[in-house]
Amino acid sequence: MEKIILKDSAYSIKKGTILGIKQMTESEKLFEIALEGGKRLDHEPGQFVMVSVFGAGEIPISVSSSPANNDSFDLCVRAAGKVTNTLHKLKAGDMIGIRGPFGKGFPIGILKGNDLLIIACGLGLAPLRSLIRFVFDKRQDFGKIHILYGCRNSANMLFLDEIKEWRKRNDVYFESIVDQATPDWAGKVGLVTTLIPGIQIDPDRTFVALVGPPAVYKPAIKELLSRNVPERQILISLERHMKCGVGKCGHCQIQHLYCCQDGPVFNYEAIKHLKEAF
Ligand SMILES: Cc1cc2nc3c(=O)[nH]c(=O)nc-3n(C[C@H](O)[C@H](O)[C@H](O)COP(=O)(O)OP(=O)(O)OC[C@H]3O[C@@H](n4cnc5c(N)ncnc54)[C@H](O)[C@@H]3O)c2cc1C
Ligand code: FES
Repeated sequence: MEKIILKDSAYSIKKGTILGIKQMTESEKLFEIALEGGKRLDHEPGQFVMVSVFGAGEIPISVSSSPANNDSFDLCVRAAGKVTNTLHKLKAGDMIGIRGPFGKGFPIGILKGNDLLIIACGLGLAPLRSLIRFVFDKRQDFGKIHILYGCRNSANMLFLDEIKEWRKRNDVYFESIVDQATPDWAGKVGLVTTLIPGIQIDPDRTFVALVGPPAVYKPAIKELLSRNVPERQILISLERHMKCGVGKCGHCQIQHLYCCQDGPVFNYEAIKHLKEAF
């Protein structure tokens, strides 16, 4: 196996100040963070950081902002348990710890010049927002862009203000859908995968970025393969329990792969034979 070489900074925690907090839904907040001394995070879309909430613990969270914004970065966090609930209680001006960025994100160099189909389900929009904003920052470098976003219901939808802007753009096709319609929802109802047959794509030049709960991956991949999208052009982010973030503890291991280092973004061709991946 390839020897893992850690950079000095892999274990060192950088201090981050919470610049602002936005309540997005009942259970998700968006945190804007600045590193001490004006340091840049220098992440790639799809990478994650290990966030220390002092006195509570350390957790992996995807970076949700575009790398083009260097002064600060965003983390969209769902209150799920001890660490995330403690993070949700912090205020602007409070300090957290940051290690990373870690892992392999979306391969921007390969995506450039191609069409993108971005499929987000629920909290999957958090890491994909980083890719979406980056692509908008460098719009001329990419071909056609389709974004499909599925959520349990309208109250769970993230980044609503930005979605309004994305809908207005004429260089992006955006479509959203909910599993359960509420009286305020006039849009489509069903699973996000049901939107795939309705879009016009050229499979040979389309790369798919798919992030959502594991249950969405199998039906989505089935639809994409039926549209002749090549397996290696389907990019999926896998979420596993993580402790070290740097390929040492084995918590995130799937057979020979470490999600924290070899992923979290993988192409389907590379992991399709790993039963545990799905
Ligand atoms: C690469 C990566 C990126 C992530 N990005 C985000 C993000 O952008 N925003 C966000 O809100 N969350 C994200 N998560 C999930 C986040 O790390 C967990 O919600 C967090 O660790 C829960 O910690 P806790 O102490 O609050 O809850 P705990 O008490 O530890 O857990 C609460 C519940 O969440 C489940 N859980 C814990 N960790 C994970 C995990 N890694 N994957 C799936 N379920 C988990 C537990 O099984 C339990 O049911 C990411 C996870 C990974 C691995
Ligand atoms: S989180 Fe420790 S090996 Fe991946």
